[in-house]
Amino acid sequence: MRLLILGGSQFLGRAIAVQACAAGHDVTCAARGLSGPIASGARFVQVDRDVSDGLEPLAREAFDAVVDVSRHPGQVRRAVAALKRPSVHWTFVSTVSVYSDNRTPGQRADTAPLRPPTAPEIEHGSDETYGAAKVACEQAVGENAFICRAGLLVGPEDPTGRFAYWPARLARGGEVLAPGAPDDAVQFIDVRDLARWIVHAAQTGLTGVYDGIGPIRTRGELLTGCSATLGASCTFTWVDRAFLEAHDVRRWAGPRSLPLWLPLPDYAGFATRDTTPARDAGLRSRAISETARDTLGWLRASNGPVVGLTIEEERDVLAAWHARSPR
Ligand SMILES: NC(=O)c1ccc[n+]([C@@H]2O[C@H](COP(=O)([O-])OP(=O)(O)OC[C@H]3O[C@@H](n4cnc5c(N)ncnc54)[C@H](OP(=O)(O)O)[C@@H]3O)[C@@H](O)[C@H]2O)c1
Repeated sequence: MRLLILGGSQFLGRAIAVQACAAGHDVTCAARGLSGPIASGARFVQVDRDVSDGLEPLAREAFDAVVDVSRHPGQVRRAVAALKRPSVHWTFVSTVSVYSDNRTPGQRADTAPLRPPTAPEIEHGSDETYGAAKVACEQAVGENAFICRAGLLVGPEDPTGRFAYWPARLARGGEVLAPGAPDDAVQFIDVRDLARWIVHAAQTGLTGVYDGIGPIRTRGELLTGCSATLGASCTFTWVDRAFLEAHDVRRWAGPRSLPLWLPLPDYAGFATRDTTPARDAGLRSRAISETARDTLGWLRASNGPVVGLTIEEERDVLAAWHARSPR
């Protein structure tokens, strides 16, 4: 397959290129060249998708499949106009942030309600309009495409440092501050599994709208599974939402957060998506233990980012918890 990745110099795009090269495909990555290196074995073509004729360097090339990871409607419209042909398999990597209802558990990609798209004149998405801009991107892609709505991506080379917080924290052992309850749902996908499925979709001509995310797991399973794999000796102190919020522990990601934690019941639907259609269409998820081990190995080898509570912040919150509720 002659595969064009519009992107390929960041986390998921690079992982797709790695998988496609390993499968023997002829891989081209088109980007500005600002975000990072592309996979070895892939060919780089410099383009700027923010200008009207920015895809000109690809004009005389032919591809069997295209994968686009953009979050900007203007970029997607230009790519579709320049490169989408009936003979070309088209994958657009979207996001579960397109959904308007994060509260209802068990939703499916084909029936879940979407946010309204950004206005037609909006070219660029932003952090605030991310989900709405991706809806506009999906609409620009149109029919006869594989729309893959990715969930939380984890694993080696994650630039956000959020999932990495847990392997890094658990590897230190000791008393671990854990958010919510052990049976709270968590849902994510190892970037390598999603990349493999996207290459598989291009190879097999899969079309339609799917969630690209792994099975529903519990936070207890995640934490105990990771700590056992990493050979760490941990005890878990589960602390409820009200206490965490009162002590300014932040949700989901970023400084002072407990990553992957979203308050319930507001986000009861976010980590409980029904992925039966994706599994039936070939998506496979590796064990948490493998993701945790490889993420920790990458962190140690490359000093990758880890973002969340600092050691001191965790210690202070645990001390406050015990002062309120002695063991
Ligand atoms: N991370 C998550 O947990 C998560 C969750 C759900 C969905 N997703 C989706 O998964 C995908 C992640 O993709 P990714 O990891 O490869 O990262 P990304 O940040 O979406 O990558 C953007 C790519 O586009 C290129 N690019 C940006 N502006 C450009 C321009 N003007 N002209 C040409 N190229 C341009 C960048 O390279 P240059 O800067 O070198 O040009 C980069 O390779 C996205 O679609 C995201 O919405 C991610």
